[in-house]
Amino acid sequence: MNPTVTKPTLILGGTGKTGRRLAERLTARGLPVQIGSRSGTPPFDWENSTSWEPALDGVGAVYISYYPDLAVPGAADTVGAFSRLAVECGVRRLVLLSGRGETEAQRAEEMLKGSGAEWTILRCAWFSQNFSEGFLVDSLREGEVALPVGNVGEPFVDADDIADAAATVLTRQGHTGQLYELTGPRLLSFADAVAEIGRAAGRDIPFKQISHAEFTAAIAEHELPAQFAWLLNELFTEVLDGRNESLTDGVQRVLGRAPKDFSAYATETAATGIWRN
Ligand SMILES: NC(=O)c1ccc[n+]([C@@H]2O[C@H](COP(=O)([O-])OP(=O)(O)OC[C@H]3O[C@@H](n4cnc5c(N)ncnc54)[C@H](OP(=O)(O)O)[C@@H]3O)[C@@H](O)[C@H]2O)c1
Repeated sequence: MNPTVTKPTLILGGTGKTGRRLAERLTARGLPVQIGSRSGTPPFDWENSTSWEPALDGVGAVYISYYPDLAVPGAADTVGAFSRLAVECGVRRLVLLSGRGETEAQRAEEMLKGSGAEWTILRCAWFSQNFSEGFLVDSLREGEVALPVGNVGEPFVDADDIADAAATVLTRQGHTGQLYELTGPRLLSFADAVAEIGRAAGRDIPFKQISHAEFTAAIAEHELPAQFAWLLNELFTEVLDGRNESLTDGVQRVLGRAPKDFSAYATETAATGIWRN
């Protein structure tokens, strides 16, 4: 057992896709956790650096899930400033949730490495849960998904696997200074993924490839912020150009088992009724 986990682990994004699951896992093992988000106690806000130090008081390790996304320009400098402050405050162990093939995310990883912390990086593929807990859930419910992406394979990774990996690297020895690339076991295009979800949910949900301009207009129609359209266009352009069309053995290396397949995710999630209209 890693000695730093006798003090609370601060879980940034602790109510989000991976943070919530990590908090459940550590709590189930009787380990103390502190949720780091705007609704945490004390509150933690990436946009208000005066909230960082109170949140770091007395913690032994931090799981860093940045919001909204490490692809946003400036994210690396913010993660760097936070990591250095954490070390100054006496936190030794930092685990960063990162993304594959993103310039700014890879810069954030370098910032983490330079902070003086005992670091581990979980560099992840797109999460399966973007379809059920993220921006795609509404269009799936409405019955049509239209995205500016073609026939590019993405190895969607399950947030449960990421949380299992995070819990392992935080509580077991031997993961300091390691970078793990976490992917699922299979490449799927977005059209493939939507078709699997449709089959699991017992609905015909068509997928349509649209232009970036059409996508931006659709986002504005839903009254979502322009920054959100920029981010998604950036991700669809930068990350989904084929650079990430490969599988890795990261889940196997950390957990000693295969990653969860997208079809298992789709079947389990469909049973919750989330994709019913
Ligand atoms: N989604 C993916 O496919 C994917 C893939 C690879 C890497 N990543 C990386 O994973 C990270 C998290 O992405 P996600 O999609 O999984 O998001 P998420 O964790 O589901 O985001 C929601 C969380 O962020 C918190 N939050 C929102 N605004 C905040 C703020 N201003 N300050 C502090 N906390 C705030 C929310 O709590 P409150 O509302 O209480 O503040 C909640 O805990 C990103 O850095 C991204 O680059 C994501």
